[in-house]
Amino acid sequence: MSSRVLVTAALTYANGSPHIGHLLEAIQTDVYVRARKLAGEDVVFMWAADTHGTPIQLKARDLGIAPEELIKQIHADHLEVYRGFDLGFDIYHTTHSDETKFHAEQVFRAIEQAGGVETREVQQLYCPHDQMFLPDRFVKGTCPKCHSPDQYGDNCEKCGATYDPTDMKEPACSLCGTKPVLKGSEHLVVPLGKHETFLRSWLAKEGSTQLQESVRNYVMTWVDGGLRDWDISRDEPYFGFEIPGHPGKYFYVWFDAPVGYIGATQKWCNDNNKNVDDYWRSTPADTEIVHVIGKDIVYFHCLFWPAMLNAAGYTVPSRVQVHGWLTINGEKMSKSRGIFISGRAYLEHLPPAYLRYYLAAKLGSGQDDLDFNFEDFVNRVNADLVKKAANLASRCIKFIGGRLGGTLGEPADDAAQLLATAATRVQEAKDLYAAFESGRALRKAMEIAEDFNLYLTNAAPWKLTKSDPERARAICSAGVMASKLIAAILKPVLPRWAEQLETMLGLPAPLTFANAAEPLPAGLELGKYTALAEPIDIKKLEAIMEASVPKPPPEPEPERSFDYEVEPLAAETSIDNFVPIDLRVGLVTACDKVKKSKKLLQLTVDLGPLGTRNIFSGISQSYAPEELVGKKVVVYANLKPRKMRFGLSEGMVLAAGADDTAITVLELHDRARPGDRIT
Ligand code: 2FM
Ligand code: ZN
Repeated sequence: MSSRVLVTAALTYANGSPHIGHLLEAIQTDVYVRARKLAGEDVVFMWAADTHGTPIQLKARDLGIAPEELIKQIHADHLEVYRGFDLGFDIYHTTHSDETKFHAEQVFRAIEQAGGVETREVQQLYCPHDQMFLPDRFVKGTCPKCHSPDQYGDNCEKCGATYDPTDMKEPACSLCGTKPVLKGSEHLVVPLGKHETFLRSWLAKEGSTQLQESVRNYVMTWVDGGLRDWDISRDEPYFGFEIPGHPGKYFYVWFDAPVGYIGATQKWCNDNNKNVDDYWRSTPADTEIVHVIGKDIVYFHCLFWPAMLNAAGYTVPSRVQVHGWLTINGEKMSKSRGIFISGRAYLEHLPPAYLRYYLAAKLGSGQDDLDFNFEDFVNRVNADLVKKAANLASRCIKFIGGRLGGTLGEPADDAAQLLATAATRVQEAKDLYAAFESGRALRKAMEIAEDFNLYLTNAAPWKLTKSDPERARAICSAGVMASKLIAAILKPVLPRWAEQLETMLGLPAPLTFANAAEPLPAGLELGKYTALAEPIDIKKLEAIMEASVPKPPPEPEPERSFDYEVEPLAAETSIDNFVPIDLRVGLVTACDKVKKSKKLLQLTVDLGPLGTRNIFSGISQSYAPEELVGKKVVVYANLKPRKMRFGLSEGMVLAAGADDTAITVLELHDRARPGDRIT
């Protein structure tokens, strides 16, 4: 075991707010860090925003602000969202910092001095209008292979071909549409081939670096296929750090981004009176560096980064842990298709604990993709957290509080074996967490909850309050002890849950894996039970997704013109004006023409328990009498009867039409019962 552990999650790019994909990785990292801290290890979580490069430069330009201002705003947003998810990073720094600049320069100079930097003349597309070299993603054109138009400069979304932007047909600058020109420029490159011997040993199966087997295998195929030169410079204008000794040249964002891990550590060490060299000028035997990343950035973290560190005399990573992609309800995330969840929107609707639990429960040490399924989410939270774990604690603590004077006793003898198994499970969970197996670790907590809920059901303490209150106390005290062990396992994932339990049990010291199994003293006064988890509804998730996707601005209504005029709208009224009108379901049982009337039909309408009505209605130019018989209609039933020339009309049938020959009677469905009120 190393004396120190430094863990990182990938640095979130500062061009937007964190989404659920970022949170998957952040939660995986945080749970790992918290678990190892809970095991008593000296662990730090060093994190920062990744702030350089063309996309940020252009976004700031679009917003009319300086890139420094943009990354400041976005950094504040990241910090707020990440804190909202209870992520226990020790620092959230920025790559646009003196500390990162210093170490990026150190690394570069060391490699340069060892002859590891060369210059190359690189031909690149340049936009004469925007006066800048265009990164591949900023060139659009026709795919040289399948001729699909409107493809990006690096690969074709239609046929999957990868190519150089200079090979595209009809290339255009994606910013302004201008045809780019080829322009030569001198670039600084690091020939990776020079690091092959080191990389092979770092990647070796029998070496000490921990890599997932599949990751090792595909990185090895890159090495075996021949290591390429890495272009580390970009021409101005570029938002980043100028390369020392090379005016007008800037570090490519991927050169200084990982150096941000060191920059963050430097800043944290400065602020906490620690020595950065203990971390970054150490050896893997003394200091473990663990990076958690997604599949897409393996190339950077398993080739460039260890080569840079090694060449510059820094500590090389001990472990790179790669996770898979997150899908939402089985579909790839896509903002434009509305399949997207932002961290901020989630926090507005649900507590962070549920997402932390759900993702940690699904995560393992593999690279499999993971689906955020709404139904599954609701089921897991409700079944595991509410019905199993919280229910056990709530039953026992409330029972002791409500019926047994709130004092804990010795746990029942017949629960001793179950408690011993539970204590073993805590130790197993500790090891599982350290192996990035949070899903399996959390299963251990649920197994304890399942065992003890069953124990409680069988032992039925509620039947013993009068006859044997001490036995009832012993049973529930075992349940409370089990809840403590469960809380220890949940703690890396649900720190607030553990805190609540620590308070309810008045624990003298915070829970750890080591003290979890220490017995609770008989006679302990339990605190009041505070809810640990509440059931949730799937509607919350639908609302989160809805709130996550920015709404397009409403289409302006096209101007419409009319060749007729209508009466102006009457003065506005409230719904209260409608309430006195009592509308009922009526069944038309008979209908006849009215002699000497052009408009009227005479209807017999059955209002069920309210009796039968005779109603005259001016609809004879729109309906033949027989068409209406058998229909269920809406009757204005408390209308004062009106004496007409042809007889008494006892109500009104609701109908509407633009003129007398096109009236429609409002009809009701078959299930409507005559006399029922219509609301
Ligand atoms: O892929 C990304 O979003 C990068 N911002 C990750 C950088 S990780 C590290 F190298 F800084
Ligand atoms: Zn342009």
